[in-house]
Amino acid sequence: MGTAILAGIMEYLSETDKDLLSGAARSETVQQTKDESAPRKLPTKFNACVRSRETAERIRKELGKYNARVTVRENDSLPAINQGDVALLACEPDAVSKILGADGVRKALAGKLLISVCAGVTEQGMHDILYSETAADVQKCTIVRAMPNVAAAIRESMTVIATSDPALSEETDRLITWIFTRIGIVRRVPPAAMDVCTALCGSGPAFAALVVESMAAGAISMGLNRGDAYAMAVQAVRGSAGLLLEGEHPALLRDKISTPGGGTINGLLAMEEGGLRSTVAKAVRESARVVGQMGTENEVNHER
Ligand SMILES: NC(=O)c1ccc[n+]([C@@H]2O[C@H](COP(=O)([O-])OP(=O)(O)OC[C@H]3O[C@@H](n4cnc5c(N)ncnc54)[C@H](OP(=O)(O)O)[C@@H]3O)[C@@H](O)[C@H]2O)c1
Repeated sequence: MGTAILAGIMEYLSETDKDLLSGAARSETVQQTKDESAPRKLPTKFNACVRSRETAERIRKELGKYNARVTVRENDSLPAINQGDVALLACEPDAVSKILGADGVRKALAGKLLISVCAGVTEQGMHDILYSETAADVQKCTIVRAMPNVAAAIRESMTVIATSDPALSEETDRLITWIFTRIGIVRRVPPAAMDVCTALCGSGPAFAALVVESMAAGAISMGLNRGDAYAMAVQAVRGSAGLLLEGEHPALLRDKISTPGGGTINGLLAMEEGGLRSTVAKAVRESARVVGQMGTENEVNHER
């Protein structure tokens, strides 16, 4: 996910200003005038931190094509946090305490912006890792949670960002919105809604993939070859998504194509009879419940 976000930013910058990414810009940050929604200063230098050599090599290859000033570090996050103005945390949720709790990290983050995309890791949880054993007047970082999804790889993510209290400065808010609009669409939700949004947006592509697979399976069972079945099912879903995105209500879309006595209405009734609606709704609820208990003593995965 971290690579997809960086790639989105670099791609935008490389289209906007080639000098900026190649290092020909005179300063580390530049005034951005063309795009009014962009923050005043855009990033120009990047550090990507990972653990293993294999991942480092993969990321060097993936990001290498942007000709950007990016340094890939293995097990060497502290200098990167020290150098940057913004830290993006995109590790596995159970690695968060190790990374944020490492020596020097609290100091390196002081006064900076920390954005986490880690599922189920709350702002309070990160705050506690960083500051539970410090004096109250220590300079803190600003922590913001965001939840993108796998479609970030094709710049089609639905990303939810938790609102902050107190509100972020206008410039920080712009910067965060700008970062995540490089990889798709952004919506703000209160922190309490992050678990259900993680289920809906983070897991949503997997749920949609199962529906596509199920539609294709029906056609394959009737003798259609797999290639055609998957291509048709996915394009049907993509077309529906396009109509829904234009504002069509799902119920009206269903109604519009349900000719009396026709195939669609009978197919829909079979879906309802099989409990598709309540099953999918339950899947979102169950997914949100599991996410909400990640890292707590009630973590449901411990029982399984
Ligand atoms: N994938 C999604 O669709 C999605 C959507 C929304 C949110 N998220 C969240 O994004 C986070 C990452 O998910 P992902 O799918 O991108 O996982 P991933 O591909 O496994 O990426 C995690 C990265 O964190 C690095 N890492 C772990 N511990 C580290 C440490 N101590 N120091 C430096 N780097 C470390 C790993 O490096 P190595 O590979 O070298 O171990 C790896 O590159 C998760 O918290 C997940 O909840 C993912």
